[in-house]
Amino acid sequence: MAAIELTASEQAGKQIFVEGRSASGSTIAARVGGADTAIPGTVVPCANCHGADGRGRREGGVRPPDITWRRLALPYSQRMENGRERPAYDAASFARAITTGVDSAGNRLDPAMPRFTMSTRDVEDLTAYLKRLEDDGDPGLTQDAVRVGTLQPATGPLAELGTTVTAILRGTFAAVNAGGGVHGRRVELVVADPGADAAGAEAALRRLVDEEKVFALIAPLAPALDGRLGELADAAHIPVVGPLAQLSASGGRFVFEPLPGLGEQLGALGEYAATALKLTNPPVAIVHPDEPRSAAIAGALAARLARRGWSQVRAYAYVPGAFNAPWVGTEVAAQGAKAVFFIGRDADFGALAAQAPLQQAAPWLFAAANQVGPAALQLPAPQAERVFIAYPTLPQDWSPQGAGALRAVRERSGAGERHPAFQVGAYAAAMVMVEGFKRAGRDASRDKLVTALENMRGFQTGVTPAIGFGPGQRIGAPGAHIVGVDAQKHIFRPTGRYVRLDTVKE
Ligand code: HEC
Repeated sequence: MAAIELTASEQAGKQIFVEGRSASGSTIAARVGGADTAIPGTVVPCANCHGADGRGRREGGVRPPDITWRRLALPYSQRMENGRERPAYDAASFARAITTGVDSAGNRLDPAMPRFTMSTRDVEDLTAYLKRLEDDGDPGLTQDAVRVGTLQPATGPLAELGTTVTAILRGTFAAVNAGGGVHGRRVELVVADPGADAAGAEAALRRLVDEEKVFALIAPLAPALDGRLGELADAAHIPVVGPLAQLSASGGRFVFEPLPGLGEQLGALGEYAATALKLTNPPVAIVHPDEPRSAAIAGALAARLARRGWSQVRAYAYVPGAFNAPWVGTEVAAQGAKAVFFIGRDADFGALAAQAPLQQAAPWLFAAANQVGPAALQLPAPQAERVFIAYPTLPQDWSPQGAGALRAVRERSGAGERHPAFQVGAYAAAMVMVEGFKRAGRDASRDKLVTALENMRGFQTGVTPAIGFGPGQRIGAPGAHIVGVDAQKHIFRPTGRYVRLDTVKE
């Protein structure tokens, strides 16, 4: 799995580090915590706690520190996070640390650090490997391939969508590989099923990282991880490009989202209402499902409108799956709302618009394209003309080459015509990742990939607005096309406006 050549001794050391198993066949045992009984070393390999890169882990409790040799042997004394001070390690004090649990200053280490029993030879091999650890590539990167993982449902309501997305990803990477790959490496796709709930999705993600040893994740479709993906990716130190169907931005350093989420799309609609429709402090209703993610998006929208000086914003939370259109319709009309932002299902949007009080008052109606569509086209003319839908991408973003490339991928992979928005999302994510690999260079690492993506500006996928990230900027095209309804023809009609949120003047 390494991109560098290791000597026999270093390779043996790596096996101890990663698997807790001696290459010579001698036994490695460990005592953990206060316990005096020894357990097999294979149960507690160093990498489990200190990370495959040896740089320690950030999560909870007593933190396993960075044990790359460069840091252990720094020629000045170190003050540790716990306040202890110790001089540089040498081979002897390192051997003492791992066998007796005492650091280079003679301080007793926390018993969370196991005391190992292993042969002198094994300690030497392990030391040799720690000296090379930093040069040893991140998992998933070999001489001739880079392994990329994705989460795609194989059963349940999202299975068909998962199949489509998988086909697009495979097809896109196949085209890249047919062109010689990236820096001489093939891009390999490993697919795992996230199952039906958050626990299953998290386990599948861990399996990709720990067992399948993927280098990065592409376009995972795991709505159950909504709001947690950033945290999980950061903890596992794994770059993620283009998570699909996440309601809100994932956050974290490692997750890059080429296209905007629901929050940004509604934000763009809010800006459109203020600037293009020139509404000034109208009574506003934000209708959203009563669950934390949607409530957070509604709150962010309200805050954005407040910065516009809009002070008459009211939120209506409804029980998910049990939308009470007559009640919401009556309340919203009684409030005198001139603008209604809707978060929820297409059918519920239609039911709300059909309420007599709202047909009379005919407020402006705003929603995002991945939620609301067909119902808007069925509205009677006066209402339909007051509907605006946000689209992350439109066919007008397509260049002839981009359109041709995606069509070729679609045809060759058998992805079919369904879920066009997800096809574009997955294809764009794959293009962004491949571009990131190119920029990260032949001796790539996960950190180099993150830096390369962070420095990406104005990248053309051919099927989306230009993609750019930056420090703290993890949404590639932070804005949305605003689309209206042609009430006569019952079709969507772009307004020609693309509202960017990163250039909004507040
Ligand atoms: C079960 C988790 C765990 C495993 C497995 C583990 N360590 Fe540790 N290690 C720790 C923790 C926690 C500390 C910090 C202890 C402290 O600060 O008192 C630590 C500290 C150390 C230190 C001291 C670092 C310093 O700066 O003083 C060294 C060296 C070390 N580990 C090497 C190893 C090696 C080599 C292995 C594998 C043979 C290993 N550890 C396996 C948890 C672990």
